Amino acid sequence: MTHKIAVLPGDGIGPEIVEQAVRVLRALDQPFQIDEAKVGGAAFDAFEHPLPPATLALAKASSAVLFGAVGDWKYDSLPREFRPEQAILGLRREMGLFANFRPAILYPELANASSLKPEVVAGLDILILRELTGDIYFGKPRGVRTAEDGPFKGEREGYDTMRYAEPEVRRIAHLAFQAAMKRNKRLCSVDKANVLETSQFWRDIVIEVSQEYPDVALSHMYVDNAAMQLVRAPREFDVIVTGNLFGDILSDEASMLTGSIGMLPSASLNAAGQGLYEPSHGSAPDIAGKNIANPLATILSAAMLLRYSLDLSPLADRIEGAVRKVLADGLRTADIFEDGTTKVSTSEMGDAVLKALR
Ligand code: IPM
Ligand code: MN
Repeated sequence: MTHKIAVLPGDGIGPEIVEQAVRVLRALDQPFQIDEAKVGGAAFDAFEHPLPPATLALAKASSAVLFGAVGDWKYDSLPREFRPEQAILGLRREMGLFANFRPAILYPELANASSLKPEVVAGLDILILRELTGDIYFGKPRGVRTAEDGPFKGEREGYDTMRYAEPEVRRIAHLAFQAAMKRNKRLCSVDKANVLETSQFWRDIVIEVSQEYPDVALSHMYVDNAAMQLVRAPREFDVIVTGNLFGDILSDEASMLTGSIGMLPSASLNAAGQGLYEPSHGSAPDIAGKNIANPLATILSAAMLLRYSLDLSPLADRIEGAVRKVLADGLRTADIFEDGTTKVSTSEMGDAVLKALR
């Protein structure tokens, strides 16, 4: 069976890192149909829209999307609807990609890269499951208006709406418990239930869902405390489930515990099993085009793509094994380079992974 994979390289370092991941996919000798389209600033430049209809149609018609990164300072002054970030938000919304898996794993070879002491992070393996299509990111109403009451009545005010519908909380909670069942059976739900109605509702639903998973130890944590515990004792966590905004912030924090955001893949899935796979890092326009970016997060995202959307776990294992091999061989891109290792370029890292695959 031919699998359709849409490749959306995007902006900044996106094209150069995606190129290496596509080389890896092609080297597997599978009947993949790989089609590429522009997205983000690159699409705005060509078609005056960050998510052109043809790009969205290609993504929707595919089993999986391999996404690079979007964004560049040069688009900062555009109206919001034309900014590169709207492409990824639009893909999430239009494809219903509500479940965002962001693993934060410390590779033993990179133990020194963390800003925390090695004994605090050794063996770190956290899975953050971030709800991705609800919350204050998409809630309406939002905008700027004239305040109708309060101390600033008559003045302009900006506003957004935090909201979660019960089925939205239920479905992400089920996935979180299921993920925990496959791991160490500990789930921490993060909210701000001491202040927010939405959060108290979230917590109540998660507790209801937990009745169906008696083997999972469920805990709840306020987001401010979770931010603290992540740097104090990160290994206390197994699976974290949280809403869109808190998940955005905590997953960046967790990624830095590993010292190497250039290593972390992510998967965003919908109810039909379609997925969008992207590195957890951004478009890094400051180093774009220099052939120095780390392609491993994108290559590992391609592995997640094979495992989650195409049901090709053995091939995913092969890619992950190849990545571990190049790390063990001491090859490092600039972001993870340290004394005693060998500095390689983006394309040389791709070469090395290809060689290790064979
Ligand atoms: C992320 C990014 C996006 C988000 C931005 C680019 C809209 O930060 O994927 O985490 O906030 O979700
Ligand atoms: Mn983010």
